[in-house]
Amino acid sequence: MPFNVSMPHNPCASLDTLDLTRVRFETPDRRPVLHYTAASTWLNDPNGLIYHHGLYHLYYQNNPFGNVWGNMSWGHATSVDLVHWDEHAVAIPCEDGEAIFSGSAVFDARNTSRLGTAEQPPLVAIYTSAYEAPHPLAGRQAQSLAYSLDGGFTWTKFAGNPVLDRASSDFRDPKVIRCQDPAGDFWLLVAVEALERKVVLYRSENLRDWEFLSEFGPANAIGGVWECPDLFPLPDPERPGRQKWVLLVNLNPGGVAGGSGGQYFVGDFDGVRFTPDHGSLLAEGPVDADGPASDVSPARRLADCLWLDHGRDCYATVSFDSAPGEGRVLIGWMSNWDYAVQTPTDPWRSGMTLARRAALVSTPDGLRLAQQPVLPESGAGQRLQRARDVALEPGEPFALADFPDDAAQRIRLAVRPDAAPLTLRLFDDGERAAVVRYSPEEGVLSLDRRSSGDVAFHEKFASVERVRVAPSDGVLRLDIILDRGSVEIFAQDGLVVLTDLVFRGPGQVGASLTGGAGAVLDSLEVDLLS
Ligand code: FRU
Repeated sequence: MPFNVSMPHNPCASLDTLDLTRVRFETPDRRPVLHYTAASTWLNDPNGLIYHHGLYHLYYQNNPFGNVWGNMSWGHATSVDLVHWDEHAVAIPCEDGEAIFSGSAVFDARNTSRLGTAEQPPLVAIYTSAYEAPHPLAGRQAQSLAYSLDGGFTWTKFAGNPVLDRASSDFRDPKVIRCQDPAGDFWLLVAVEALERKVVLYRSENLRDWEFLSEFGPANAIGGVWECPDLFPLPDPERPGRQKWVLLVNLNPGGVAGGSGGQYFVGDFDGVRFTPDHGSLLAEGPVDADGPASDVSPARRLADCLWLDHGRDCYATVSFDSAPGEGRVLIGWMSNWDYAVQTPTDPWRSGMTLARRAALVSTPDGLRLAQQPVLPESGAGQRLQRARDVALEPGEPFALADFPDDAAQRIRLAVRPDAAPLTLRLFDDGERAAVVRYSPEEGVLSLDRRSSGDVAFHEKFASVERVRVAPSDGVLRLDIILDRGSVEIFAQDGLVVLTDLVFRGPGQVGASLTGGAGAVLDSLEVDLLS
């Protein structure tokens, strides 16, 4: 199969080609309760995620002037709990000749950048300047700085931008972290050469001058351009007191469910180079006209590499800098470039996934990320339904609490399916539903949204997502968060995650679980979340 190395999604071109003449429709009942959306504009990737002085800052790719991609700037929201967000003024605006693409933010506590003072150290944002005409660097992508002296609310672009330029057209999405090193701490930057499917690593003492360290890739999933990387340490569950490193690489298209997706590698970082563990690296090799120079087929690369999420709608996932608590807090953009600019919401378009707290866990196949949704503290108090040890009547739906009008819902269940398939109908009005199935024979969990409501707005939206899930001791455990426009499934304690948008219609509020002979519902909890 010929390998397509062209970039199918060229964001810079999309504004001109979109049909903006369609009739506008307000959809307030589609506004998610728990997922961040901008009030009336477009957003894509989360940017500059940082916890600072008691606030989580979520910057994001934003079009301040409309609800389609364009005029890329950093929008801004803050939260004290990662669940309820307040929108603020645009943080870093685009200019004529320069779009502000994705990037990250750090607190420069020792004022290494000299962009603040010792008394007033700065927050520093590192973002991609995507230069366009009439800028003299038009056609290039290079890395730039902006700084804030008021805790992240107002930003000044550094006069010496760009600070890192490889004369490349697709060098973007810098993520910077502070690296502890016996010889002295330093700033580590990971970014991508997107078309080459490479992560490039640089180091700096002052955030202004960058020294090349190494590169990683192409490896594992390479069916699309690599974007929005992240690299961070997590405790090694197999060697107490030691760390392993996780490299996130988002890619578009070429995701496991089609279109945009995110893969990860577990390995070590020695201050210069990232080396993936054996169990984490499936295939390496450059991309050339005839395909990857490796004997691992593209299909196997897709099926067997490590995916952050197996749904259609989790992209550009990156982590918060300096977040308190254990593990690493991740957040993704809850959409897919396949159809993102056509999703039927108005006046806003697109939102973020729930924040997810990720940790490494030991499995027979090696270390893997397990993710838990970050939820409102009040959630557990508002129980709608609870059941224990229910023998399911074969073929008879067991009714679950209806979906609420003005809240989100969490369904946690532990079920022993026995030999026959299980079916969980969500957002059900008797005809339309988002259908979760588990086939014990195949060991496959699926989410079918083909009849889940409004699916006709784009030919690629109606889809069935499938992922292998192994019950532990015969028990399938699902933690499902339903919001007005989405289904997020965390299976087997977050070892498998699946996120899909669903645009349900009026009256789609029912839910039920059906099993075959011998199926037992060990436990069920349904909670309101608001
Ligand atoms: C990923 C991406 C990034 C880029 C940004 C532009 O979704 O294409 O690579 O920085 O979006 O909005």
